[in-house]
Amino acid sequence: MARGIFITLEGGDGAGKTTQAQLLAARLEGFGREVLILHEPGGTRMGAAVRQILLGGGEDLDPTAELLLFEAARAQLVSKVIQPALLAEKVVICDRFTDSTVAYQGYGRGLDLARIEQLNQWATAGLLPDRTVLLDLDVKEGLERARALNGGGGDRMEQEELSFHDAVHRGFARQAAAHPQRIRVVPQMPTPGMTGQAVFDAVADLFAGDGQEAR
Ligand code: TYD
Repeated sequence: MARGIFITLEGGDGAGKTTQAQLLAARLEGFGREVLILHEPGGTRMGAAVRQILLGGGEDLDPTAELLLFEAARAQLVSKVIQPALLAEKVVICDRFTDSTVAYQGYGRGLDLARIEQLNQWATAGLLPDRTVLLDLDVKEGLERARALNGGGGDRMEQEELSFHDAVHRGFARQAAAHPQRIRVVPQMPTPGMTGQAVFDAVADLFAGDGQEAR
């Protein structure tokens, strides 16, 4: 079956994933590829509503309820947006995906990892990214950046303590160690452009069939 390419960007808050998704998309569009950028949670009407519940605050969410909401939004996004785009042979770049749930709800909140793996598989109908780029940034620096971008206070996740974000960071590192073929770690570079080159290098082999030189 014809299929596009599915790339996810992961990392702690403030790692610059949004900028990197845009830079990567522009680069791949230069190859003549059609690229769709998505952002979890979101990307559908239902996902946008769930995002508002998850990040907007206003209610103390039970961790299990939080986990299931992320997964519900993901199921909708995969079935209604990602799968159709891949069938249409597009490149899909998703800002956060299943590894975020392992890192935030598993390592951050302390929910059972095996259950999260099961839910991830269920919500995605087994869809795995062809490549995941983990943007690695000092936890404190990232958090300060993210909070500043969000008007000083930060959203519901960003308001969590440093120890929570340290655990999330550890979760991403463990995921990367467990899946070295799929997940490539890109450290923070002095400029977004330099990080962008490293992000591109981390996915370039997926586009070798396009008959393009990798750089
Ligand atoms: P967002 O404003 O999109 O932040 P970012 O730009 O850092 O992606 O907020 C998404 C937040 O939701 C972020 O703090 C990570 C968190 N999150 C989870 O806790 N679990 C998940 O499964 C996903 C997808 C995100």
